[in-house]
Amino acid sequence: MAVCQWYGSCTLEIFVIAPAISMRAGACALDARKRGLHRMASCQVDVMKAVLIVLETAFATLAALLLAGVIGVAGFVYAGVYDVAATKHHNGLTHYLLHYAMQRSVKARSDTVHVPTLDGRARLDSGIALYRQHCSQCHGAPGVAPEPFALGLRPAPVNLLEPGRDWPARDIYWVIRHGIKMTAMPGAIPAER
Ligand code: HEC
Repeated sequence: MAVCQWYGSCTLEIFVIAPAISMRAGACALDARKRGLHRMASCQVDVMKAVLIVLETAFATLAALLLAGVIGVAGFVYAGVYDVAATKHHNGLTHYLLHYAMQRSVKARSDTVHVPTLDGRARLDSGIALYRQHCSQCHGAPGVAPEPFALGLRPAPVNLLEPGRDWPARDIYWVIRHGIKMTAMPGAIPAER
């Protein structure tokens, strides 16, 4: 076990654990005075114990911060701070986080989707018919506006031009098959599963 003498040569340790060492040295000096000893050099500081003090302080600080965080979140929820009114959009940060989390969640689950060949006239025609029947009310289509109710949804259904161009087919399939929780995006209805 390394032992540093006060005013001794172990400068690095003293630098790192200075606060704890000075507390211990102070206590030691007081003790020495009580016992009638006058030489400070007789106070030897146990470095391992000082490191333990530093670690204990760090853990206690972390635990206190964690507890404050939990209490803060509970208070935020219980006091109803977040406005759930659908007459207002999510604020920019909330919208970004929810949208990003949704995309990561879909990516983490779409690996197993087997994508068939998607071209071919018959497949396109049946896709267009299904889109008209199940999707255009919310997402609109070229020359077709979404239904008025869809304009009041939060998050609002996006125009699918960009995801259609940028998302891999397996991710789009996953979203259509499973839907997205806490949005109006439905999963495939049971009869079609
Ligand atoms: C009742 C309204 C509604 C219907 C019907 C609907 N959607 Fe959605 N859709 C949404 C909403 C709301 C979102 C979530 C938007 C967000 O999170 O930004 C969404 C998200 C999506 C997304 C993810 C794109 C993105 O960036 O959010 C795709 C792809 C999608 N829908 C395709 C479809 C298809 C294809 C159909 C038809 C089979 C369909 N949707 C039917 C409301 C709907």
